[in-house]
Amino acid sequence: MRIVFIGPPGSGKGTQCQRLEELLGLVHLSTGEMLRDAIRDGNELGRIAAGYLDSGNWVPDDVILQCIVDRLTAPDCADGFLLDGFPRTVPQAEAFDTLLEERRLPLDCVVSLEVPEEVLRKRLLARGRHDDTEETISERFRNHDRLTEPLIEYFREKGILRRVDGQGTPAEVFDRIKEAIGLPNT
Ligand code: AP5
Ligand code: MG
Repeated sequence: MRIVFIGPPGSGKGTQCQRLEELLGLVHLSTGEMLRDAIRDGNELGRIAAGYLDSGNWVPDDVILQCIVDRLTAPDCADGFLLDGFPRTVPQAEAFDTLLEERRLPLDCVVSLEVPEEVLRKRLLARGRHDDTEETISERFRNHDRLTEPLIEYFREKGILRRVDGQGTPAEVFDRIKEAIGLPNT
């Protein structure tokens, strides 16, 4: 299966992809994790990305596309993948569509996790990752609303959007996701 997870900061993309990865044995690719790894390694991608992550801004589309396209064409993605946090802008989605069409690899669905902002702020402040400060969280929400939210309409028009309530326990959310993507609820 090829599934994309979108949702605002803290909506549970990473948590739910990890569960689905364990269940289905698919590769879980988080662009946020890839960028944090690059920053830790101190490589060129990391040097470019650091300022964007620290300020809660989205990394430029061409930079993201360059790193994800290489990764998606690796052999371990041949049977499918779970994408967490990519695409995150309409230009990223359009470039991704072109890549998938060229390879005749259609997406199965796009899971949109929906959680009210006040709940997300509490989750993120409790987690305390480097970019989980009041100011950076606000900037991430602003960028999400401006650049990522339009993807909901983009994928709805394609008929592959699955909206899922991301509130409740992680197990409850996972049950809803399984139902939304057509997996048996065991
Ligand atoms: P990224 O790492 O993707 O950050 P994000 O989108 O802000 O999302 P998070 O990882 O914070 O949250 P999540 O939805 O994964 O939730 P999680 O499961 O962790 O990206 C980081 C940065 O990289 C971006 O800001 C941007 O700069 C850059 N970037 C990445 N991709 C990019 C792209 N494509 N283009 C441009 N720039 C890009 O859960 C959050 C917390 O809540 C955890 O503590 C978790 O334990 C808890 N939790 C989860 N589910 C529940 C639940 N049901 N109930 C209670 N708590 C829960
Ligand atoms: Mg995450």
